[in-house]
Amino acid sequence: MDVEYDTPLFFHVMGYAANADRDVIDMVSGNPDWEPPEALRAGLHEYADLEPDRFQYPPSPGLNELRAEIADRRGVDREQVVVTNGAGEANYLAMARALERDAGSEIVLTDPVYPYYPGKTTMLGGQPRYVPTDDDGHLDPADVRAVASEETAAILVNTPNNPTGAVYPPETMAELVDIAETHDALLIADEVYDHFDLSGTFESALAIDADHRIVTNAFSKSMAITGFRVGYAVFPPHLVEDAKSRHMLVNVAGSRPAQYAVLQALRETGSDYYAANRDLLRDRVDVFTDALETAGAAYTRPEGAFYVMARFDGYPGTLANVERLIDEAGVAGMPGEAFGSSRQDWLRFALVTPRVEAAAERLATYFE
Ligand SMILES: Cc1ncc(COP(=O)(O)O)c(C=O)c1O
Repeated sequence: MDVEYDTPLFFHVMGYAANADRDVIDMVSGNPDWEPPEALRAGLHEYADLEPDRFQYPPSPGLNELRAEIADRRGVDREQVVVTNGAGEANYLAMARALERDAGSEIVLTDPVYPYYPGKTTMLGGQPRYVPTDDDGHLDPADVRAVASEETAAILVNTPNNPTGAVYPPETMAELVDIAETHDALLIADEVYDHFDLSGTFESALAIDADHRIVTNAFSKSMAITGFRVGYAVFPPHLVEDAKSRHMLVNVAGSRPAQYAVLQALRETGSDYYAANRDLLRDRVDVFTDALETAGAAYTRPEGAFYVMARFDGYPGTLANVERLIDEAGVAGMPGEAFGSSRQDWLRFALVTPRVEAAAERLATYFE
């Protein structure tokens, strides 16, 4: 079976930037460059000295205390929570669960799209069905309604959004759940950037009481630990057991030290940690979009997450132009074509480098 993954493109750009003959500012990856919570580091140190029995398998769906802590914070039952290897596995479990229900084989996705969604859809034997978003990355639920049918297994959305930065209003999410219910499909909400809502309008889909929605999340971005691989999915009670089985058969269990450290950090980290990171990002958004203004570029000002899409006149976001930008301006972004067909003229820049200001100056000078 031929499966399209975006990984080669992503790694290709990273590799090209690393081998360039000059200093390059990496705005490709989604790896936060700021500190994890202090309690996370303390938890890891502490773990090294625990007894050998703590170095053995944790419960497959995750450490009981971690699941309980997540459930408590999210207002759900512990049994509904599966701790996963990041949001990546949480999305995989949710999509697999939707497709194995034998209630349709299409997964409705947005265009632009986070590239792993179509990759996973195809890998699982489903078909992606795309719905366009508007220039700001917002989704009109009427467009979803128009393509939804008995073939729809799931509607998968990401808010705050990668790559557009859109934060979907609560009414949009409620309508998407309604559409899912109408067609016996599942609404899957990937909320991995929930702590990076810069607009103050984000509301989790968990606020909607429904047995046709799954929420996925992770600590990868919120605690700046993409390498730890700790995420989770919240399933409706009638869908969770099969998801736990799949998680167990694929992974046996997740990483115990990582879950332990995340649990300590969850318990001991105040809201000021997350607020400080949002402030940092807001400043970076200002600096970067000011430079895009100077460069005469079109851009989306993100309402959340940490990416900015930009379009430079006469400089479409092809892979060739991404490489040229690396060589001639010393800034590495992602080509728009990685995110579907609607943003092929655009480039995506991740604001997860302390050198955002320098990158902004380089772009302004290059395009002015
Ligand atoms: C929208 C979205 N979902 C999921 C992921 C993967 O998250 P994790 O590293 O927790 O698997 C990412 C990572 O960039 C993402 O942007």
